[in-house]
Amino acid sequence: MLEKIKATASFISEKVKRPIDAGIILGSGLGGLVNEIDIELTIAYAEIPNFPVSTVDGHNGHLIVGTLGGKTVLAMQGRFHFYEGYSMKEVTFPVRVMKQIGINNLFVSNASGGLNPEYNVGDIIVISDHINFFPEHPLHGKNIDELGPRFPDMSKTYDIHLRNKAKLIAIKNGITIKEGVYVGVQGPTFETPSEYKMFRLLGGDLVGMSTVPEVIVARHMGMTVFGISIVTDSGVPGQIVEISHEEVQEVAMKAEPKMTLILKELIAGL
Ligand code: HPA
Repeated sequence: MLEKIKATASFISEKVKRPIDAGIILGSGLGGLVNEIDIELTIAYAEIPNFPVSTVDGHNGHLIVGTLGGKTVLAMQGRFHFYEGYSMKEVTFPVRVMKQIGINNLFVSNASGGLNPEYNVGDIIVISDHINFFPEHPLHGKNIDELGPRFPDMSKTYDIHLRNKAKLIAIKNGITIKEGVYVGVQGPTFETPSEYKMFRLLGGDLVGMSTVPEVIVARHMGMTVFGISIVTDSGVPGQIVEISHEEVQEVAMKAEPKMTLILKELIAGL
């Protein structure tokens, strides 16, 4: 695996030839941030050696390098989900590559179901912590000591300084943001009302099908992580309505400009 990571990192580094300040992973319906990037290089996932190919609607499958908020960023427009059939090693491979290139800051976004009754559909939530409910662990198997420790600490997963900064940026721009715990599940089914209730009882504020694997791997390698989520539907008893992937994307796209503004200012301040 290490050889593959290094080969893919070299392939990208040779094209970029300068340090990259941040990696960004854009979730469902949240690819609009790319329009804010002064793009220098776009590479389709299919052209990147060892990269899996994204298949889900709304996930474009491009790696984009450019300038955002005065910083050099590498953005993934479209991520790899476990439910698509990829192994956890494949889902998290791009994050391994980011770190190998020299990227130390990871920004992740996603769409989620709201479990906290104080949340409304369309709310922007800064992820304060997560609960890993995936059936397979991205660090399962022999540890590669060169990448990180066998037993990584997870007590400070989502960087407190970036979380506090995000709140200040939101206030300054008149944007309401809240904080919460993200429960990562495998999908692809949305939750039954009873499952939403269970995840709330277990301590979750949000539930979604991504992010946790990438964040675990980023922390394994000591990267600084910031996560942000858009509540696209409610899992609160009495408020649950039928939903579809299209509706999730539609709600995400509406809230996306506010999320983008926060991410842009956060990155500018790195
Ligand atoms: N559950 C799981 N994943 C999701 C949801 C949800 O309600 N909304 C968006 N992604």
